[in-house]
Amino acid sequence: MAQVELNCFAITVPGTEEICAEEIRLLGLNPQIEPGGVGFAANRRDLYRVNLWSRVASRVLVRLGQFRCRDFPELYRQLLKLPWGRFVRPGRPCQVRVSCRTSRLNHSGRVAQTVRAAVEKVLGTQDPLPGAEQLILIRINNDQCTVSIDSSGELLHRRGYRVAAVEAPLRENLAAAILLKLGYDGTCPLVDPMTGSGTFAIEAALIGAGIAPGHQRHFAFMDWPHYRPHVWTLCLQESGKGRKTGGEIIALDCNPTAVAAACKNAAAAGVDSLLRIDRGQMEDLQAPAEKGLLVCNPPYGERLGRVEQMTSLYADFGRLCRESFAAWTVGWIAAERHFKDKMKIGCQRIWSFSNGGIEVELRQRAGDKREKS
Ligand SMILES: C[S@@+](CC[C@H](N)C(=O)[O-])C[C@H]1O[C@@H](n2cnc3c(N)ncnc32)[C@H](O)[C@@H]1O
Repeated sequence: MAQVELNCFAITVPGTEEICAEEIRLLGLNPQIEPGGVGFAANRRDLYRVNLWSRVASRVLVRLGQFRCRDFPELYRQLLKLPWGRFVRPGRPCQVRVSCRTSRLNHSGRVAQTVRAAVEKVLGTQDPLPGAEQLILIRINNDQCTVSIDSSGELLHRRGYRVAAVEAPLRENLAAAILLKLGYDGTCPLVDPMTGSGTFAIEAALIGAGIAPGHQRHFAFMDWPHYRPHVWTLCLQESGKGRKTGGEIIALDCNPTAVAAACKNAAAAGVDSLLRIDRGQMEDLQAPAEKGLLVCNPPYGERLGRVEQMTSLYADFGRLCRESFAAWTVGWIAAERHFKDKMKIGCQRIWSFSNGGIEVELRQRAGDKREKS
C-alpha cells in the first residue's frame, strides 16, 4: 500500500513556487510548478514528508479525480466513483469549498450539497465523529471539475510554536520564504533587530538546525483511514537525524512584551538554546561579526503607528545598515509608498507580496563579498 501513487498539489503563496519545488525536489520527488503551487506524485510516506518538511507551502492537497461535468446528475455519478473510503472516516464532518468559473455548473452551494450527498452515499450515514472537519475542495473551470482533499488540516504556517503573539506577526511560511530568498542556509550569523514575536529568528533556527517545521503538529491525514502511524513515526525519526548547529542568531526588540512573546515561542519551538533574544533599541546594535544577514520586518506605519513616527525609524535603520552592519546582507520588508527613500542605502526589490492585507516588498542590499586583506 505504501507505493500507492497520489496526485498531490502543494498550494503556495505567489512567488514561493520555486522554493517549494526545491523543497520537494530535495525530498527525492519530481515537482512541477503549476499556477498557484507545485504538483507532484507521491506515495503515502512522501505525502507525510512534504507536510512535515515544507517551510513555505500553505497546504498540501491530494487530487482525487478530474472529470468533465456539465450537470448535477453527472457530477453526482462521477463523485460516487472516487475513493472516499481511503480519506474520510464515516461520520467525519466535511467542509466543502467550491469555486466555479465559466462553467455550466455555477451554483457553488448546490455543488457542495451534491458532494456531501455523494460522500455520505459512499461511506454510509454515521453519528458525527468529534474532531476537525475534513476539507474537500472542488474547482470547476470550463466544465472541468477537479476534486481534491486536504492532507494538511490547519494551514502549514501554523507550526504549533506560536504560543504568544504580538501585533502584526509575520506568517511563519512567509518568514521562512524571505530567509530562503535572501540565501539564508543557517551557516552565517543572523540578526533581527525588530523581532516582535521572534518569527524570523525561530524560522532561522529551524533552518539552521535542519529541524522539520511540522514536527510538532497534527495533520488532517492523521484522521484518514489511509493513515499509517508507523510510517509517520519513521518520517519523524528520519527528521531527527542529521541535525546541525547553525550560525549565531540574535533577536532584539524594544518592547518587553514582544521579547517575552519571542522567548515563549522559541521555547515552544524547542530552539531557545539556539538563539539569543534581547531587549534593546535597534539603533544601539553592534554587528556581532564581520558579515552575516540582517533581516527585519519594521512596523509599516499603516497599523502600528503613524507614518511620521516611522520616518525617523526607517532613517535610523538605514544608518544602522550603512554603519555597524555595512558589510552585511540586509533584507527588510517595506511598505513601499511611505519609506521609499528614507533608508538611503542601495537596494533592490526581490519580491512583492501581501502581508496581512498590506502590499509590501522584500528589499535586499547585497553584502560585501570582498575578503578582508
Ligand atoms: C511589525 S513588528 C515585527 C513582527 C515580527 N516580524 C513578528 O513576526 O512578530 C515590529 C517590531 O519592531 C519593534 N520595534 C519598533 N521600533 C524599534 C526599535 N527602535 N528598536 C527595536 N525594536 C523596535 C516593535 O516593538 C515591534 O515588535
